[in-house]
Amino acid sequence: MADIIDGKAVAADVTAKVKDATAALKAETGVTPGLAVIIVGEDPASQVYVASKGRTAKECGFHSVQHTLKAETSQAELLTLIAQLNADTAIHGILVQLPLPKHIDEGAVIQAVAADKDVDGFHFINVGKLGTGETDTAFVPCTPSGSMLLIERVRGRDLSGLNAVVIGRSNIVGKPMANLLLAANATVTIAHSRTKDLPGVVRGADIVVAAVGRPEMVKGDWIKPGATVIDVGINRIAAPEKGEGKTRIVGDVDYAAASRVAGAITPVPGGVGPMTIAMLMAATLASAYRSAGRQAPRF
Ligand code: GUN
Repeated sequence: MADIIDGKAVAADVTAKVKDATAALKAETGVTPGLAVIIVGEDPASQVYVASKGRTAKECGFHSVQHTLKAETSQAELLTLIAQLNADTAIHGILVQLPLPKHIDEGAVIQAVAADKDVDGFHFINVGKLGTGETDTAFVPCTPSGSMLLIERVRGRDLSGLNAVVIGRSNIVGKPMANLLLAANATVTIAHSRTKDLPGVVRGADIVVAAVGRPEMVKGDWIKPGATVIDVGINRIAAPEKGEGKTRIVGDVDYAAASRVAGAITPVPGGVGPMTIAMLMAATLASAYRSAGRQAPRF
């Protein structure tokens, strides 16, 4: 049976280190990391995420602010708020929770956030820095950076000689994930819905990252014995065995089958999910360290 990669425990470890490093930065420079989260509209899932981000920020000792805007807020109003936060020296990280209401151009909003406060890592400057290997100063999207930390815990920081397959080519997960693996010297394949013989491609992988959003799509017999399997998927499916109308959360990997073959695997829930907020805290801390002219701690 595979080792279960405990994302909750690793996330708690990262958050504890962020808290200590925050106290040290405050004591040495007087700077308190500041995180501003903007939410537009009443999407219930977004409200839960945003509340959790604010709670964790406070636990870390950050200055944490939340701007809750009505669904009818105009793009111009949102851009005005972003400009204010860009200029606010008490704020080191700005996150605009997605999705935004339909009348707002997400791309324009993402590019309006100052690149040096873009803790989501979505700005073209940060995408470009990651793509060119400027990983010391790039902000990297939280889901791939959290996944990478879990891979490091299993395989170490140097992935030379290992084949990694990323399934999914999104800008938020697949592409940055591939760049992180490449920066760690892995031999990287990005597979997607048009890939021929996906099972065959995955069978060659020492590291598999599944980020497709399709419940249990990756089968146990696709997994190379001993492989490290990172499941980014969070899919809600019907669970009639729990009672009528009940649901449960599964990943993109058939966990029961894959865990009999893999060397290490993330569960869903409790794997990659808890890492994302921890990495957001780490990114905000890094931004505050840089603003104080200091080298940000590594995790
Ligand atoms: N909505 C779901 N995931 C994310 C994320 O990583 N960042 C932002 N800004 N919004 C999200």
